[in-house]
Amino acid sequence: IKQKNIRNFSIIAHIDHGKSTLSDRLIQLSGIISDRDFKDQILDSMDIERERGITIKSQTVSLPYTGNDGEEYLLNLIDTPGHVDFSYEVSRALASCEGAFLLVDASQGVEAQTLANIYLAMEHDLAIVPVINKIDLPSAEIEWVKDQIDEDLGLDSETALLVSAKTGVGVANVFEAAVAKIPPPQGDENAPLKALIFDSHYDPYRGIIVHVRVFEGSLAPGEKIAFLSSDSIYKVEEVGIFQIKRRPVDRIRAGQVGYMIAGIKLISDVKCGDTLTHSGNRCKAAMKGFRDPNPVVFSSMYPVASDEYPELTEALEKLKLNDASLVYEKDSSAALGFGYRCGFLGLLHLEVVQERLEREYDLSLILTSPSVRYEITRTDGTIQIIDNPSLYPDPAEIEKTREPFIKASIIVPDRYMGAVMQVSMEHRGVSTNYQYLTSNRIEMKFTLPLAEVVYEFYDRLKSVTQGYGSFDYEVAGYQETDLVKLDFLVNGERVDALSQLVHRDKAVDRAKNACKKLRDEIPRQMFKIAIQGAIGGKIISRETVSAYRKDVTAKCYGGDISRKRKLLEKQKKGKKRMKMVGSVEIPQSAFLSVLKSG
Ligand code: GTP
Repeated sequence: IKQKNIRNFSIIAHIDHGKSTLSDRLIQLSGIISDRDFKDQILDSMDIERERGITIKSQTVSLPYTGNDGEEYLLNLIDTPGHVDFSYEVSRALASCEGAFLLVDASQGVEAQTLANIYLAMEHDLAIVPVINKIDLPSAEIEWVKDQIDEDLGLDSETALLVSAKTGVGVANVFEAAVAKIPPPQGDENAPLKALIFDSHYDPYRGIIVHVRVFEGSLAPGEKIAFLSSDSIYKVEEVGIFQIKRRPVDRIRAGQVGYMIAGIKLISDVKCGDTLTHSGNRCKAAMKGFRDPNPVVFSSMYPVASDEYPELTEALEKLKLNDASLVYEKDSSAALGFGYRCGFLGLLHLEVVQERLEREYDLSLILTSPSVRYEITRTDGTIQIIDNPSLYPDPAEIEKTREPFIKASIIVPDRYMGAVMQVSMEHRGVSTNYQYLTSNRIEMKFTLPLAEVVYEFYDRLKSVTQGYGSFDYEVAGYQETDLVKLDFLVNGERVDALSQLVHRDKAVDRAKNACKKLRDEIPRQMFKIAIQGAIGGKIISRETVSAYRKDVTAKCYGGDISRKRKLLEKQKKGKKRMKMVGSVEIPQSAFLSVLKSG
């Protein structure tokens, strides 16, 4: 295929505006997959994505298309996630594109992440083609959305495509628009190879599969390649393109997006953002690469079974291949043994990583309460950055503490203005500004402590605005705060993995909630168990789990033997998910419940 007949583009949108549905339609129309093998959300290949109905990973698919001019084209669609936690993933995907379709829901209009994503696309100098989706909806307001496209986005709304990804109306025009409006890639096919690694994943049979965008030169099996950052050298076994399945080809050339297999087992050799070249004929300079991810939420992870620590280590390494934004380092806890301190881009990212580790690597994990990064000035003048409660100094040695704040932008219909104000105040937010985008939609700006957003702010916002509130944020520096370390004691013994750093005003509520949850989650044991929340030496909340004989079969009144056996089995299985802390067995679920008791 000729370079001038290749198009690389992605679809960007606010969450739920129909990106995955539109991708599905395009894939179906292209005919690369039979109707029998087709399923909805086909690019969302992970279970978590399908269950939650969201895209987490970006995926590439190469679609063949015969243009109106009779030429054969290869349209590479790079699907991207919509949630604010994954904008790092979006930004990496965009580095491989020349253009983007900006999808706007005809009934919702432009929202916070529509704006955030268009800025990302502009940073990458992409051609942007507006698409108005869901025109089949009775509540579609096409003219209203066109006004927003002109005014809020500064794009020409006359060029906007009108589609319904659901019914298929107008979808075929997307192909022709890709050909006409998105420039073909450039780059000299005969120059030395220069390919950008934008993703990778681990295949148990083939080793590491490296996802690349070739910018210059070309790549074929049998050739010797080098990774610029590590200078390790491999012989290429296979190259190909993504068409839901991997499809091997003879050679991938400048302008193409595809994959390379070279029997790579050493995970540390493959880095996202690194440049790939031929070892004998190297390109002059490395590609620009990607900015480092900026984790904002931290939590420690421990295997429930301490002997699974090596498995956790290996799983994290492999997951990191496929999730370049994950960062982690060794950590240990008196209660839980060895584990890892991990940094995440947000709470959803944390949940996704935990779920992927548990499902894809069959681990059972305990996570500690998520924390942001605090800046502590000690009385001796030294400054310390901490994200781990276990490193919190003696309060007598603290001069002052500062915590990270964010600038949040919230777009809502104006009838929800009061409700949003209320929620924001409950979360220590300060309103800084607002403006009407259209006659009844308003953009409100707040500064909020990041720690509040990490907990439940987003869920609360969604619920008080009945789903109409859209939210985007950026981290915006540190402000002084009044922090305390909240500890929990189980039968008098401090469980370090439960400690958390919280604002003083929230400490009592947090402690009470957490103690209640622990009481509900910790099964009765042969003796009474006291659960206490404390700041320093001072107990601020208390609950008790009364003693009970743990005979689960007692409630089966003799009778049904198989049911009895099932219960015993269940109890045995449950044991594997228990952690002995002192003399008390604490289930994994108890740790998790505290994590969410903001
Ligand atoms: P993320 O992958 O999480 O970013 O969301 P998304 O933008 O991919 O949205 P998705 O394709 O999952 O669509 C969200 C919802 O809108 C789904 O319930 C779709 O069925 C629905 N939807 C998508 N396109 C249309 C359309 O053209 N018309 C109507 N009526 N509904 C649509």
